[in-house]
Amino acid sequence: MADNEESDGGGDSSITDQQLDDFDTNRGDSSASEISSATKEIQRSEPNDPANDPLFIREGDEDGSSTPIWADRDLLSIGTVPGPDRIVGRDTEIKSVAGEIRHLVHESQPNHVVIYGETGTGKSLVSRHVSDRLVDTATARNVPAASIYVECKKNNTETRVARTIARALSDKSGSGIEIPRVGLGSAEYYDYAYDIIDEYYDGLIVILDEIDMVDDAEGLLHELSRAREAGHTDAYIGIIAISNDIDFGQKLNARVQSSMRTTDFIFEPYQSDQIEQILEYRRDAFQDGVVQDGVITETADRSADEHGDARKAVDVLRIAGDIADDNDAEVVSADHVDKAVKRAEINRVKETIESTSPQSKLVLYTLGRLTGSNNRRFRTSGIYSQYETTCGDVGADPLSYDRVSQILSTLALMGISESHQIGGGHKQGVYLEHQLIKDKDVVMKAVVESDERLSELHNGTYEI
Ligand SMILES: Nc1ncnc2c1ncn2[C@@H]1O[C@H](COP(=O)(O)OP(=O)(O)O)[C@@H](O)[C@H]1O
Ligand SMILES: [Mg+2]
Repeated sequence: MADNEESDGGGDSSITDQQLDDFDTNRGDSSASEISSATKEIQRSEPNDPANDPLFIREGDEDGSSTPIWADRDLLSIGTVPGPDRIVGRDTEIKSVAGEIRHLVHESQPNHVVIYGETGTGKSLVSRHVSDRLVDTATARNVPAASIYVECKKNNTETRVARTIARALSDKSGSGIEIPRVGLGSAEYYDYAYDIIDEYYDGLIVILDEIDMVDDAEGLLHELSRAREAGHTDAYIGIIAISNDIDFGQKLNARVQSSMRTTDFIFEPYQSDQIEQILEYRRDAFQDGVVQDGVITETADRSADEHGDARKAVDVLRIAGDIADDNDAEVVSADHVDKAVKRAEINRVKETIESTSPQSKLVLYTLGRLTGSNNRRFRTSGIYSQYETTCGDVGADPLSYDRVSQILSTLALMGISESHQIGGGHKQGVYLEHQLIKDKDVVMKAVVESDERLSELHNGTYEI
């Protein structure tokens, strides 16, 4: 096994400096054919072909089809909707959602659906799977239909969602209508969408994934749910809204609740044997025999730790494969899984703090810096003075004490730290203590990788 030198899967690769030098030397000198095995067509053509730049393409993988580890890495991409034979333990949910929207096939109004559940419980997968199948059936029965999938996290205003729907419809229908990217309001984008729908479709399913991220979800749902009755379109529109936040329904104001009746489902976390099965069904992402015994079980166990989260499991297995691959290992081992779990946690924290301000990152970094191995708690005042030092280190102007305590409460809301109220007894003052709840090294690495100034401070990387 040649996998003992990896750091953390952060992309250390097998390219040697020599190979890169060779490539540079060969550029523009077509006579110097240093590249050894002339078996691959693409290699024979041009020794310095940019198609074979060793910075990106491995020796021996010039046709790019696979690697000694991977047979089909895409199978473990989160966006991939796996075929029905790879879907585990969601038969009931699939049938239930299908039962609500099936009316579309008979040219009648589908029910609107809201799906709640924690991350990685198959909400996106089931929604896309059922909608795709419905569209196929409807179309085969001469009811032209389409389904549109909107990631609301990336389209977090009503205008952006409307634009995404309009542009996706234009693409799918092949209408050739150019829809402007900027300068229009939601009303204009809806108009584009309705024009295309009426010309090409009788039915439409709109999946609004992570709808709780949209600023004006009420407006959006109100518009789409009554488009037909308001005479904007003749087509039947069914909505599948997905939310990680169970309180979302209550937050929708009365206006929407009265005009839009929904059927709600809650997806429960997977059991650890279901997670194991999900991964087992994707084993063919790897070359035969490279996944060592116990690796899939280990990945499933470690991912079912908090709650049965299939996303985490799929992520960890893919990252473990990447680490093995990057290190030219012959097999994927438990050791790779171990490193992948860390990496996946770091990626998650990075995702969580992605949208926070640069100052919040400095506060989080400060808390991480203060935290020793035994994860101590710190008073706001202690954090604040250390925060001033951090600001000095990176050349930032410190915020006020009050702003920093607000940031500390936000970090707690995001689930990265927690705050405890201390004191309040006889003649005592009340103060707060703050503590990381994620692993200190994971937080430090994530925050250093998310902020340029901090990463400079650490010479580019935080070693753990
Ligand atoms: N029942 C299942 N069978 C097979 N794979 C699943 C299942 N549920 C989830 N997955 C996989 O786990 C990952 C996360 O699932 P996803 O549907 O995005 O979860 P959610 O939307 O609830 O966060 C995806 O790669 C998905 O293919
Ligand atoms: Mg999802």
